[in-house]
Amino acid sequence: MIFERRHIISTKDFSREEIDFILDRAGRLEPYARRGGLDLLKGHIVASLFFEPSTRTKLSFDTAVKRLGGTTIGFDSLESSSVVKGETLSDTIKIIESYADAIIIRHPREGAARMASEISGVPVINAGDGAGHHPTQTLLDLYTMRKECKKPIGDLNIAIVGDLRYGRTVHSLAYALSLYKASLSFVSPDQLRMPESIINYLKKHGVELLETPSIDDVLKDADVLYMTRIQKERFPDPSEYLKVAGSYRITAETLENVKNDMIIMHPLPRVNEIDPSVDSTIHARYFQQAFYGVPIRMAVLSLVMGKEA
Ligand code: CP
Repeated sequence: MIFERRHIISTKDFSREEIDFILDRAGRLEPYARRGGLDLLKGHIVASLFFEPSTRTKLSFDTAVKRLGGTTIGFDSLESSSVVKGETLSDTIKIIESYADAIIIRHPREGAARMASEISGVPVINAGDGAGHHPTQTLLDLYTMRKECKKPIGDLNIAIVGDLRYGRTVHSLAYALSLYKASLSFVSPDQLRMPESIINYLKKHGVELLETPSIDDVLKDADVLYMTRIQKERFPDPSEYLKVAGSYRITAETLENVKNDMIIMHPLPRVNEIDPSVDSTIHARYFQQAFYGVPIRMAVLSLVMGKEA
């Protein structure tokens, strides 16, 4: 398996064996994700170019680099880059590749990370491109399922709820779960259904699939309830957002008849789809999930930089 100098753009670019290899490496690195002590990236610089806001992805990548002994450069908004002066993304990448050993990029335009990877001589990691993909989020989601569920991923009943049209985390996750043949249920308002191209891909790959607008149809049988935020910023027409805002909201009461070992995940940030009363239930895993972003990103960075761990 070759990861050195490889770009990480979409989960579609990876086999199940490659994904499992990354998850195994994250497992070995997890003890160091809280205390550091490794020097795998000593002397290396990683650039993080965030043209869109981020808390978890940006800071967990920063943490991962530092836990591995490396250093980071970058910016965290469009306004703090020379893009506001009219510089193209292509020129930005050509400059940054001469400063850093790897580039992490989040951009509002779908396809921007792929485009960057075609220009860059150093590995590019997609930290979210518009409504496209978010591959490292998927890796940490799979890691969470592997660690927190009592069954292998392929035996899980996974219900994905919310904005399946614009949510890039669920696009990446759906492609990856097709490799494991997990049973999937997609719960969304009609306007926010999973794109047809992804549905067709899943069917072609033999995935057992249910689509429904009602969360009640999936609660009882789910092993994983993967909640998502309605992506307000991606709606061309704000009045369309208002029609679907608040479509799904779970509270501790909603969970009365779910399986005891069902886990609730969310890529975060949440708006109002998970009531804080859920946080103290035995089902909540979303904060743990966010932490797993550190070992996963340590694994990804060390692999693309060609380091043994
Ligand atoms: N899950 C996720 O991508 O969160 P951020 O937008 O805070 O990075």
